[in-house]
Amino acid sequence: MITSIFPFTRPRRLRQNHQIRSLVRENTLSVDDLILPMFVIEGENISEDITTMPNVKRYSVDLLVAKAMELYELGIKAIALFPIVSDELKSELCEESYNEQNLICRTIRALKEKIPHMLVIADVALDPYNINGHDGLTVNGEILNDETIDILCKQALSCAKAGADILAPSDMMDGRIIAIREILEGNDFSHVAIVSYSAKYCSSFYGPFRDAVGSGSALKGDKKTYQMDPANAKEALREIALDIEESADAIIIKPGIAYLDIVSQAKENFNVPIFSYQVSGEYAMIKFASQHKAIDHDQAMLESLLAFKRAGADCILTYFAEDVAKILKEQK
Ligand code: PBG
Repeated sequence: MITSIFPFTRPRRLRQNHQIRSLVRENTLSVDDLILPMFVIEGENISEDITTMPNVKRYSVDLLVAKAMELYELGIKAIALFPIVSDELKSELCEESYNEQNLICRTIRALKEKIPHMLVIADVALDPYNINGHDGLTVNGEILNDETIDILCKQALSCAKAGADILAPSDMMDGRIIAIREILEGNDFSHVAIVSYSAKYCSSFYGPFRDAVGSGSALKGDKKTYQMDPANAKEALREIALDIEESADAIIIKPGIAYLDIVSQAKENFNVPIFSYQVSGEYAMIKFASQHKAIDHDQAMLESLLAFKRAGADCILTYFAEDVAKILKEQK
């Protein structure tokens, strides 16, 4: 007897009401999966708007800590920090990146004092500190891979000393994961995890972020010699394999929506947790389109994030984390 054809088979049976849809739903969003990237700036009692990222702020340390306490109450357990470094502190050798009293280290300590259980993710890369906006040291416009690694190791160690739980190298230099791991192991920081931006593409979707931290105007040239070519997928799998071999605890794929094919291939090929980053430009697209009433804000936000889960992301860095956490709380 053939039963698998219409009218016996009717997929709509499992979609006919809310109850049955939720019973067969394959993926759900949870606050446990969300990480909020946050921008920190010098000063006190400062909360600045970012024109290209509506509703995202640059906070001074005091207000960032206060905000993080609210987030923790909402169930968000991890934040990723990015500093706005004043021009006087930027240099060719990026010394400020490993200054134990720099803005990031002070922010980490302040967070850990008030909310010790909030996971703090510190970015490892030189761009906020580099006079020419690049993630690595340069000579005559050329990136110095191995010399950069030495500075990244110092930066990683300073962040670990300040109390960072997770270090996230986002610089895309070759060989930095093993070097950072060795430094951590050698200095009693074996508990500090490395979540590597293994596949970070050279993307136009980082535009608003560069506005937010001021690295865009500083940037001389582009990042094509270290960030990946958007045309490549197999290369991403090679990059991921190398980072896992070098002992990365988990990996990040970035940007998000436009690179979910990489997330799904990574999920099939590797056993480490996969993070994906819904970057500033993706956030801005949803914000501005919804402000112009082209799409519904909340629906588009939730739909976009569900796509990450469907592709296989274990967690998502997103500027929407707080909005989503609030919606999920109301739904309970
Ligand atoms: C660089 C870095 C970038 C982002 C975070 N760290 C990109 C870049 O400037 O190359 C972008 C994140 C976003 O767009 O939200 N270390």
